[in-house]
Amino acid sequence: MSAATIRTFVSGDLKPVVALWNSALRRDPISMGRFTSWLFGDPDYWPGDDSGFFVATQERTVVGFLRAIIRRWPNDRVGLEPERGWIPALAVDPGHQRQSIGTALLQRGLAYLQALGRRHVWVCGNSGSAPGYVFPGVDQDAYAGGLALFRKHGFVIDHEPVSMSRAVVDFDVEHFHRAAWKTRQDIRVLSLGTDRVQEFLNFMATAFPGDWNMAARAKIRAGALHEVLIALQGETIVGYCQWEGEHFGPFGVTAAIRSQGIGAKLFVEAVRRIRTADGRTVWFNWADEAAARFYGRFGLKAQRRFAILRRDL
Ligand SMILES: CC(C)(COP(=O)(O)OP(=O)(O)OC[C@H]1O[C@@H](n2cnc3c(N)ncnc32)[C@H](O)[C@@H]1OP(=O)(O)O)[C@@H](O)C(=O)NCCC(=O)NCCS
Repeated sequence: MSAATIRTFVSGDLKPVVALWNSALRRDPISMGRFTSWLFGDPDYWPGDDSGFFVATQERTVVGFLRAIIRRWPNDRVGLEPERGWIPALAVDPGHQRQSIGTALLQRGLAYLQALGRRHVWVCGNSGSAPGYVFPGVDQDAYAGGLALFRKHGFVIDHEPVSMSRAVVDFDVEHFHRAAWKTRQDIRVLSLGTDRVQEFLNFMATAFPGDWNMAARAKIRAGALHEVLIALQGETIVGYCQWEGEHFGPFGVTAAIRSQGIGAKLFVEAVRRIRTADGRTVWFNWADEAAARFYGRFGLKAQRRFAILRRDL
């Protein structure tokens, strides 16, 4: 078998790349629609020779791909992060694995990022900065080969978030509500109203700089304020959460007043709203260690373990 050729993605690669994604990234199936929105709807993706999306071909057949990202659109007030690069996805067709194709793709992706002056590379991204995010990192159980490949090439595990979920049909909202309101009764939790959107954006920029601001703006742009809750101390916003259907998050409380039960008030109220919109489960993709303990108290169970990796160039 001839060695693979690595080149940038062209239009005709769309179908084979999506098919390959679904056969190699088996725990993360993607539809053509979601893939199209992920890639072409992403302001960091500029089609062309320097897109950072590489495909490997063998005898004109697509056998692998890797996406490398530099920011072309600022991460809110954190800006373009010119020293950072990201690799949100890498895959080789199962029939062509262990033939050095993944290595060739990774080397090409790293060379691309290095040529653009990047000094730190993330797989897939860090909290607050995960452009092109589909999954938080490499699924340690489903993609052990991917984990081994990145480690072999000098990547180290930065941290290990989990995804969690639980059925909420029997979630005892009233029980958790009473427990949550035993402390800090001065805190009010309410839907984000149009009158507080500006203050909300100021809160987000100060308390959670980075891409959670973009997620919040997307919610505002979509006109979905009913899926955003804020926690108020007096008239000051001190926490928030958002969700989409049954998909919970992002979610955060101002650092200075964490561990005082404010997160619990927000979460329980969000579950109430999700239930009354006929949601049957609550899930999210990305909880770091402290957050995982928090959710465990509400009966959520870890479903997947990810490794977020980084490497300096
Ligand atoms: C990860 C992946 C892209 C590697 O592609 P590949 O072409 O098989 O990799 P190469 O032949 O260039 O490199 C081989 C190295 O990868 C790792 N590796 C690949 N498959 C492996 C497996 N099944 N078990 C253990 N290690 C594996 C090892 O480090 C191996 O080195 P070694 O032979 O010295 O042990 C491919 O296995 C894949 O598509 N996996 C599913 C998707 C995935 O894990 N993506 C990463 C998440 S973004």
